[in-house]
Amino acid sequence: MDAPIGSEVHKRLFCRMLLDTHDPYKAAEIAWPVLPQDALARLHSLPFWDLAVETEGQAAARITALAQVEHDPLLREAIALQAFEESRHQCVIEAMLRHYDIPWHKEPATDVIADPEWEFLRMGYGECFDSFFAFGLFHFASTSGFFPAELVQAFEPIMQEEARHIVFFVNWAAYSQAQRAWWRRPPFAVRRLAALAVQARARLQMGRSAGSQNFTYAGQDTLSVALTPRLFLKTCLAENDRRLSVYDYQLLRPKIVPSLVRLAVSLWPRQ
Ligand SMILES: [Fe+2]
Ligand SMILES: [Fe+2]
Repeated sequence: MDAPIGSEVHKRLFCRMLLDTHDPYKAAEIAWPVLPQDALARLHSLPFWDLAVETEGQAAARITALAQVEHDPLLREAIALQAFEESRHQCVIEAMLRHYDIPWHKEPATDVIADPEWEFLRMGYGECFDSFFAFGLFHFASTSGFFPAELVQAFEPIMQEEARHIVFFVNWAAYSQAQRAWWRRPPFAVRRLAALAVQARARLQMGRSAGSQNFTYAGQDTLSVALTPRLFLKTCLAENDRRLSVYDYQLLRPKIVPSLVRLAVSLWPRQ
């Protein structure tokens, strides 16, 4: 490998990946299409808008906090860019809700971020879970005619941004671990594992509580195509591979969720 994990070359590679693939679109300039009545009703009925706005806002605040304590200029620039993109996601969703007159509730931001590294770890693993399933759902939303293509297209940059974010995150985590003195690596590895466990547990709980407000699972309930679990998981895998394959092969990719899902698909009875 030309870019050993933890090396200066590796750092440049994953930071430049994020910085150089930034899409400078402006949320305020998105031309929202005129929606037919049925599509508008479907958009109104989706249960996750409050959570989507809140999640993106929290992500922006937490990542900003990490950028503020990062000493390395290149890492700081890349992390700050991710924070900007998360806050732009929030602006895009809010602009759409405003345009289509969909009410949403926004909690005032009261987060005190005492430990930005822990928050970034937690959020990063959360994004690895959510993005994987969101890629599959987005594919079904685009191909099922559930929404007009122009509306789906407006969210395409957000989907690809989440793909960039999770590639950046897993490389940042591996780099941060390798950069530490040998005796500081085990505590960091434990933190990574704890953050992963917290997010896995949260998603298992959300998956169990039917009708919850979770973005990924609630979204699946509202799709109009007949989805078997196996087809859904296979589509998530294919979309995940497609979206992540465009970045430098030397960069790490999230492995845990795709590996678990690959295992589940191989064990799932065929219908
Ligand atoms: Fe986001
Ligand atoms: Fe993100």
